[in-house]
Amino acid sequence: RQYIAEAEAFHTTKKEELEAFRIKFLGSKGLLKDFFAEFKNVPNELKKEFGQVINELKTKAEDKVKSIQDAIENSQQSSSVYGDLTRPAEPLEIGSRHPISIVKNQIVDIFSNIGFNVSEGPEIEDDWHNFTALNLPEYHPARDMQDTFFIQTNPDVLLRTHTSSVQVRYMEASKPPIRTISPGRVFRNEAVSSRSHCIFHQVEGLYIDKDVSFADLKQTLLYFTKEMFGKSKIRLRPSYFPFTEPSAEVDIYWGLKTETDYRITKGTGWLEIMGCGMVDPNVLKNCNINPDEYTGFAFGMGIERIAMLLYQIGDIRMFYENDVRFLEQFKASI
Ligand code: PHE
Repeated sequence: RQYIAEAEAFHTTKKEELEAFRIKFLGSKGLLKDFFAEFKNVPNELKKEFGQVINELKTKAEDKVKSIQDAIENSQQSSSVYGDLTRPAEPLEIGSRHPISIVKNQIVDIFSNIGFNVSEGPEIEDDWHNFTALNLPEYHPARDMQDTFFIQTNPDVLLRTHTSSVQVRYMEASKPPIRTISPGRVFRNEAVSSRSHCIFHQVEGLYIDKDVSFADLKQTLLYFTKEMFGKSKIRLRPSYFPFTEPSAEVDIYWGLKTETDYRITKGTGWLEIMGCGMVDPNVLKNCNINPDEYTGFAFGMGIERIAMLLYQIGDIRMFYENDVRFLEQFKASI
């Protein structure tokens, strides 16, 4: 009976100790073997009780070995190979698109729907594609409008200040009709602040065909602002760009419903979103397109500016810091 108590109390998590226990009780030279051998010497009147006790001891010892063995196997499997299989799964971290990409893709989609394709070009440009072909000859004062990063002078190699350079390349390489948008990164030597950065992104558009008019430009802009912002009240303010004539600045009526609307529109309700105009005949000539046969319009906008409007981002520097707390907020967007 003392052994029954011992068997009942036994516990271990180690295989070796369990094996020692098994040998002691159930082994070929173990206690039970001895007790069974002893059975024939037990007086008849005690045989019944003795038999019951050693049978109980046998079952208890066998059960104990079995249950501890199972426990050891389970814990080995779960901790070393699979971890704790009963724990709930860790959530899978998935990435999210950068807001610049989200907005760029939206703009690309909107223009793809009306037949524009996407064109790309180099970020390191020569003077011809960034300036001269765009009606900005050497010493033209408007070159100062775009604070350029030069990599080399004479002959000039520079970081493109706008993606209009891509449009020049596109015109040089293809014949009208041309309908293309050029998204990409551009560089300007400007002081970095919450509102401007020396690196940013643009989407510029170009449409060239026979009889393209300013009315076509305005309708295209109306279509775009409706699709992009759900707002279709725009105004065109006369402006100047060397590569377009006439030129205009596009304002969208943002409204004055919230405090933010007041702040970003400086209380006017109007917001400038892009520049545009009819392609200057000199630019067409420079790109081997006959201005007597073809006309066209062009427009250009900053992606950061639009993303800041749509997502109410107060500081342009956020786009380049790669702070996951910022980036994670765009998970819900595609
Ligand atoms: N290239 C101009 C800029 O970077 C934008 C623009 C493009 C304006 C096309 C008019 C026409 O500011």
